[in-house]
Amino acid sequence: MAVSEFNDTFLRACRLEPTDYTPVWFMRQAGRYMPEYRALRDKYDVLTLTRTPELAAEISLQPVRALGVDAAILFADIMLVPIAMGVDVKIVDSVGPVLDEPVDSRATIERLHQFARTDIEYLRRTIQILRGELKIPLIGFSGAPFTLASYLIEGAPSRTWLKTKRFMYEQPKLWHELMDKLTGAIIFYLHEQVDAGAQALQLFDSWVGALSPADFREFVLPYNRRIFTALEDTGVPRIAFGTDTAGILADFADIDCEVIGLDWRQDLAQVRRLFPDKAIQGNLDPAVLASGWKATEHQTAQILKSLRNRRGFIFNLGHGVWKDADPETLRRLVDYVHAH
Ligand code: CP3
Repeated sequence: MAVSEFNDTFLRACRLEPTDYTPVWFMRQAGRYMPEYRALRDKYDVLTLTRTPELAAEISLQPVRALGVDAAILFADIMLVPIAMGVDVKIVDSVGPVLDEPVDSRATIERLHQFARTDIEYLRRTIQILRGELKIPLIGFSGAPFTLASYLIEGAPSRTWLKTKRFMYEQPKLWHELMDKLTGAIIFYLHEQVDAGAQALQLFDSWVGALSPADFREFVLPYNRRIFTALEDTGVPRIAFGTDTAGILADFADIDCEVIGLDWRQDLAQVRRLFPDKAIQGNLDPAVLASGWKATEHQTAQILKSLRNRRGFIFNLGHGVWKDADPETLRRLVDYVHAH
């Protein structure tokens, strides 16, 4: 294929079409493990970077140049939606999103407002710049309602999600109002991204695995379903990603999406048998990358072997790249996946 041509291997895999090789990209491929990113972070905080189109586009392009991946992901953050809805969010180094005023009442939910195109003009501009530069597909994304609600209610990253669960169980009506509002905002946000040029969409439900299957069905699934169904008219592949979803997968993936994103706790070949009509994305444990090339090569070979000769596979990690990952290992991994 001529270098100047658009490489749609990733999109073809999303649609279960035959491909010449297995496409690969990495969640959090743009970020702190890259020296080029850290150089920009020395000068600007992360929210400023996401809201400055020239810088955000440059950061999305860094791993494309350095690693040779098959898709780019918009440099943004899941907290941009709550921020556009009027929430005051800080991203604290090595902690994550922190709120001075967590959501804890009807009044705090009522304060969340739907937003307009003008509120996310910077994002549209970033996407337009990227589409002018890229020869591979651009993935847009949003946080899923549960994951966003959990940050809003906890006020800071949590490992138990106790405040979130108490809110859900003790004030179910308010919970549904919050989820409804977030869902509407996410649908608008993702439509805007496709309108500006995004060619695939991923919904990050990073913390949904904290729920029991019954709670997931009652408190979350209707909203995820609404989002994916509402995005059908965009025509772009829709990726449903969550971590720790093994226990809820039958419901989590029973949704109007083209691709299921999985972490390392699940066997890809088994999931493929359960959902033969969907493409699969995953699922190398990012801890393996920190364990040397031999382990990385061995585990990657196993993953590739388990789905050999199957259409609809996109190689990725099971969750985001760690900040101490070696870019050289990732580059080697891309070459390895392409060659096997
Ligand atoms: O390359 C990419 O994947 C695109 C960039 C991206 C960022 N955030 C930039 C960012 C993406 C896809 C996200 C999504 C995101 N943000 C998620 C879902 C993905 C997942 O990993 O499950 C979540 C849970 C967040 C919330 C968030 N924002 C966290 C937990 C952090 C890290 C805090 C820390 O310092 O450890 C952020 C900040 C953030 N967003 C960084 C980046 C590159 C690091 C901040 C920095 O540069 O200091």
